[in-house]
Amino acid sequence: MQTKILLQESDIPTQWYNVIADMPNPPAPPLGPDGKPVGPDALAAIFPDNIIEQEVSGERWIDIPEPVREAWRLWRPSPLYRAHRLERALGTPAKIYYKNEAVSPAGSHKPNTAVAQAYYNKVAGINRLTTETGAGQWGCSLALAGQLFGLDVRVYMVKISYEQKPYRRSMMQTWGAEVYASPTDMTESGRKILAAHPDSPGSLGIAISEAAEEAAGRADTNYSLGSVLNHVLLHQTVIGQEAKAQLALVGDYPDEVYAPCGGGSNFGGIAFPFFADKAAGKDVRLIAVEPTSCPTLTKGQYAYDYGDAIGLTPLLKMHTLGHDFVPPGIHAGGLRYHGDSPLVSQLHNEGLVDAVAIPQLETFEAGVLFARTEAIVPAPESNHAVAAVIRSARECAKSGEPKTILFNLSGHGHFDMSAYDRYFNNELEDYDFPAEAIAESLAHLPGVGR
Ligand SMILES: Cc1ncc(COP(=O)(O)O)c(C=O)c1O
Repeated sequence: MQTKILLQESDIPTQWYNVIADMPNPPAPPLGPDGKPVGPDALAAIFPDNIIEQEVSGERWIDIPEPVREAWRLWRPSPLYRAHRLERALGTPAKIYYKNEAVSPAGSHKPNTAVAQAYYNKVAGINRLTTETGAGQWGCSLALAGQLFGLDVRVYMVKISYEQKPYRRSMMQTWGAEVYASPTDMTESGRKILAAHPDSPGSLGIAISEAAEEAAGRADTNYSLGSVLNHVLLHQTVIGQEAKAQLALVGDYPDEVYAPCGGGSNFGGIAFPFFADKAAGKDVRLIAVEPTSCPTLTKGQYAYDYGDAIGLTPLLKMHTLGHDFVPPGIHAGGLRYHGDSPLVSQLHNEGLVDAVAIPQLETFEAGVLFARTEAIVPAPESNHAVAAVIRSARECAKSGEPKTILFNLSGHGHFDMSAYDRYFNNELEDYDFPAEAIAESLAHLPGVGR
């Protein structure tokens, strides 16, 4: 009875899969505040040309540079597991597989793109990067990638996560990055937020404003984003390609593919290579899992909105709760984002990608069951996928249907134990759907491109 399905280092994919080539409609273009499409040069103040090229490419396959594959070999290929013990605990006829992205040095899928982005900036002659981080996983990943390719990294860390996860900050510093709790008084964006909300817990949208503002104002500095944009999801398709090859080794193929969804990068990463088959007629469901307190895909509007809180970025067509929505302080910090990947949003809007929202307590209950059966303590973000998989596997137990289920275990929770503590002490709560706050921020949508 095989548990781990492993690939060799030589099996690491040599190309990324670009879902745009198989989408039924071209992606909605980014717009300027005047409602007119912006060209690639609108991004040139903060991104290098080689990344902008990927952001707008329609090519189905894009070569992965050898130095990126070489850095990936520190932890890739990641193992695919068959969750025998979880299946037994659930008494389900379903087969559950999970791709374990927690094996990376930073503990999640995020280094897959961090390494690529650091490499592309380095070859473009950039020596310094700014970024935001929510849970700290992305900041750690970029700090690590900066070390590997010789770039300085400054991280704006969402204040509530900075306070909840001091050791994530230490880890970023260990890999040489500077870390500040956002909102700071170092940027115009941060000062604006602090003037209106001196006690702001921060949000990914605010931290993005600060990091992007700084990069736009300095010639030696670029900005690096951990999710949402097309090139980030592209880089993450290494996950789904490996998973497909691993499932083929055991003669299996999923009926359902799940991943937690914040900005959409690990979901796109595992799901898009399967979308290629879906576009060719294969019956496979792709399901993004989000928190009920920040229900971007399930309750947000599909509209043009800013990617950051202040409105510095081009307008992206995406499912959004409004760029100034500050989500409740749930422990899955990486899922506290008002928007979502435009690619995932468009596919969801076209009925090709499904979404489900799960309350916080159910996700921790699922994570604890997973830890007690499969041994790995998942990140709170990953617990969302675990909970959705458990729901589906329990349905299979009732119906007798032997589905094959795949999910992405996007990260481990070793820096999230205070959240588990709070769960065990009954101090965690299910936030109500913040209907009023969302209605108010949706009223501030820029109103272009309708
Ligand atoms: C472990 C983990 N999973 C999931 C996410 C959500 O991000 P994304 O939707 O870009 O994969 C994050 C983001 O920080 C994360 O750290």
